[in-house]
Amino acid sequence: MCGIVGYIGRREAYPILIKGLHRLEYRGYDSAGVALINADGKLNVYKAKGKVADLEHAVESKDVSGTIGIAHTRWATHGEPNQVNAHPHYSESEELAIIHNGIIENYAVLKEGLIQHGYTFKSATDTEVLVQLIEYIKHTDKVDLQTAVQLALNQVVGAYAIAVLDRSNPDIIVAARKGSPLVVGIGDGEYFLASDATPIVEFTDKVVYVGEEEIVCLERGKELTLKTIGNVVKTPVVKKLELTLSQLEKGGYPHFMLKEIFEQPTTLATSMRGRVNVEQNNITLAGFIDNKEKFLKAKRIIITACGTSWHAGLIGMYAIEEFARIPVEVEYSSEFRYRKPVIDQDDVVIAISQSGETADTLAAVELAKSHGAFIFGICNVVGASIPRAAHSGCYTHVGPEIGVASTKAFTAQVTVLTMLALMIGRERGTLSEERYLQIVAELGKIPDKIGEILKQNDRIAEFAKTFTYAQNFIYLGRGYNYPVAMEGALKLKEISYIHAEGYPAAEMKHGPIALISQEMPVVVIAPQCGTYEKVVSNIQEIKARKGRIISVVTEGDEIVRHMSDYAITIPQTEECLAPLLAVVPLQLLAYHIAVVKGCDVDQPRNLAKSVTVE
Ligand code: M6R
Repeated sequence: MCGIVGYIGRREAYPILIKGLHRLEYRGYDSAGVALINADGKLNVYKAKGKVADLEHAVESKDVSGTIGIAHTRWATHGEPNQVNAHPHYSESEELAIIHNGIIENYAVLKEGLIQHGYTFKSATDTEVLVQLIEYIKHTDKVDLQTAVQLALNQVVGAYAIAVLDRSNPDIIVAARKGSPLVVGIGDGEYFLASDATPIVEFTDKVVYVGEEEIVCLERGKELTLKTIGNVVKTPVVKKLELTLSQLEKGGYPHFMLKEIFEQPTTLATSMRGRVNVEQNNITLAGFIDNKEKFLKAKRIIITACGTSWHAGLIGMYAIEEFARIPVEVEYSSEFRYRKPVIDQDDVVIAISQSGETADTLAAVELAKSHGAFIFGICNVVGASIPRAAHSGCYTHVGPEIGVASTKAFTAQVTVLTMLALMIGRERGTLSEERYLQIVAELGKIPDKIGEILKQNDRIAEFAKTFTYAQNFIYLGRGYNYPVAMEGALKLKEISYIHAEGYPAAEMKHGPIALISQEMPVVVIAPQCGTYEKVVSNIQEIKARKGRIISVVTEGDEIVRHMSDYAITIPQTEECLAPLLAVVPLQLLAYHIAVVKGCDVDQPRNLAKSVTVE
């Protein structure tokens, strides 16, 4: 949560910082701010409650000149989202300004100590405590900014990506990270700093990913320097950025979410490229092949993730258990990390995360690693913390997902998990060659089949209007489609603010059936598969109680279509691949209901794309 940007060089910093904040707004958007040192050496800090656009409005008549600056877009943790709590925060003497993404857990103790030394606090944030501590150390120990930051961070418990400006030295930005991401872009006589590479991509493709507990010094006219908080000097490793500007734009769509839903035929083809060879009927996942023995000797696989990625993990469980016959447990990372789980050296732990930065999933990975388990990461953002912490893994390669509601990342995660399940099953001999070949061939057809489903977008948009009245929705599915029901419900609640629950269809009669009335829309995922007849019975039970039915059915299914108020069709496919198709209409349904309700689809209230706090 929170996005941070910095610039030092020859250009005016403000336009670069504001553009960067817009790119990072998906990380948090309750307030924003900027700090700049102008040519006279004045350190100006401007802040505004609301979005980056509100900040731009607030600084219209202000001095925003300067070739060095830092900026921040916030997702509140300590202190309500208002102007005072917005970043950057000044130190006591207003000599320093800081931006911060993360949480200083021992801020109360540190604050108490600083108060005793005469420091006063304007905000309710943990961040202000850190900048005061840096200033206190700088003054009392008479050290430079970098040393003061280093000494201060040695006292800090928690997570951070920070950047600090010093009025007395307008040629330097000192930044550091622990648990929150930070990347430096290296230009021609200039440096860029950001939470991810999106604000940097149009200026340079040379980046340095700042590592855990590392401090970096961006000094005008000098080489980048890097050292650890423990004072070990390191050589920065410069990498080439694989990201294009067009991937960061809406490309004519009204929202990133809609663009990302429509991108799925392409993104899934990209996810499979070089991995699924339909001509040779083969799958190759390098991360699996290089570590085959770990999977083959595993007595158990634990999948850990949060939110949508957890739903993908559940589908992965069905596939791995069906094809590879290895027991799988799927864990919410936040529960797993704290419930003293039994983890064995022979366990394989699969961590799934779009951002690769989710704090709970990262902590779950570290915990499992400390018990000797083998960690396989399935992530989207290249170079993020989770893929770096994992022993091996596989990127989903869907490009930046900017809409806060995850769509294309989900289908790619399911695709990668399916590929993995098929490969393990084949290697273990628990999946016949014939079935393997059938499913691989069908997997290759999925992108086109999603393309077919997307043609129903206008009709879904039309009937979505009928459901904006609803206060509650139930989503039902069985087997592979039970996690899809939960994912459909999550999409609806996060962007339309309508309460929604995903249930295994047969569980309905154990409670939720009491909710069914003509006011209650029920979304039933009922493709042709092993449990089809049973789901039809569930639909009859809903009909008998006058529930309104939106169904997702296989093309040609007249039975369920006639029983439904609205039916959306998906092409016939293998049961294990049905989630890849069935989820698409649910993404569109949630999107259109949210649009008709006038909700902020790409940046829903209270949410952030990358949850770097637990
Ligand atoms: O980046 P991650 O996949 O680790 O994120 C996990 C969840 O925060 C995320 O999936 C969240 O539930 C989405 N907003 C769902 O659309």
